[in-house]
Amino acid sequence: TKIAVLMGGESSEREVSLNSGKAVLDALLENGLNAIAIDPADYSLINLKSDGFTSAFIALHGSDGENGTVQGVLDYLNIPYTGSGVQACAVGLNKHFCKVLWKAAGLPVAEYVALSQSEYRDLTTDKLIESVSKLGLPIFVKPNTEGSSVGVSKVSDYLELKAALDEAFKYDDLALIETYLPGDEFSVPVVLGKVYPSIRIKSMNSFYDYEAKYILDNTNYQCPSLLSQEEEAKIGDIAYKAFNVIGCRGWARIDLMQDAKGEFVLLEINTSPGMTSHSLVPKSANSIGQTFQELVAKIMASAQT
Ligand code: DAL
Ligand code: MG
Repeated sequence: TKIAVLMGGESSEREVSLNSGKAVLDALLENGLNAIAIDPADYSLINLKSDGFTSAFIALHGSDGENGTVQGVLDYLNIPYTGSGVQACAVGLNKHFCKVLWKAAGLPVAEYVALSQSEYRDLTTDKLIESVSKLGLPIFVKPNTEGSSVGVSKVSDYLELKAALDEAFKYDDLALIETYLPGDEFSVPVVLGKVYPSIRIKSMNSFYDYEAKYILDNTNYQCPSLLSQEEEAKIGDIAYKAFNVIGCRGWARIDLMQDAKGEFVLLEINTSPGMTSHSLVPKSANSIGQTFQELVAKIMASAQT
């Protein structure tokens, strides 16, 4: 075997991916496997086959590598890889499509408005505010794709709305404006058909943004998340269904909020979850006695085309 650990790439989550990739590479090497770091930013993936690679661990995040394009190249080369296939990755990185599918499947999704850049250009400020007024304030404005909260703003005053939309449109032609839910954030990994314990995230920042995710150490993570047994079963059931509706394979991590009534609401799915020292899937695995090395070995063993 010769494993390519795909990391880096050219998305806005490049730095996060390099950290995930390094941790995964180290774990594979400690497991005695032949693994090599490959950065698609400076290596053409078309050469993987001729360079003798037999499988790939995808540790890429965001538009480049979590959206199905890299998966398509690997399918074409007939090289088995970790995680979901082309279609589930393409849908999974598209928050709007996920919500449409989840809603149709009867899963809980928070209220939101999707606004394209061209629609936005044609709207007067009054019409813009009118189109999102049903969401109340504050609201979240995010690019439809990307991860790690890149391009995301919390808007507490309509005067901030345009700047937030301009920021979101740097990353995608579609922006989502979502209703703000004041409760805790939760995340649930699904690994090889098994639902892992939920993690509760209490951010000290105004929301769980990039800084809170990777730079500061002021985020409080609870795993076990101290939900009641009944609530834990419920959040796990929603996450498992959300995974299957998108057609995911191997592993993924589902992010949710708990609203004021205690109901869970789906935010998004991550088909290539972070594996950095700050990341959530390793924390959850750890809470059931699974080491990072064991987790990586499991995910690697599930690689397929
Ligand atoms: N998008 C980041 C890597 C995560 O979900 O963990
Ligand atoms: Mg994400």
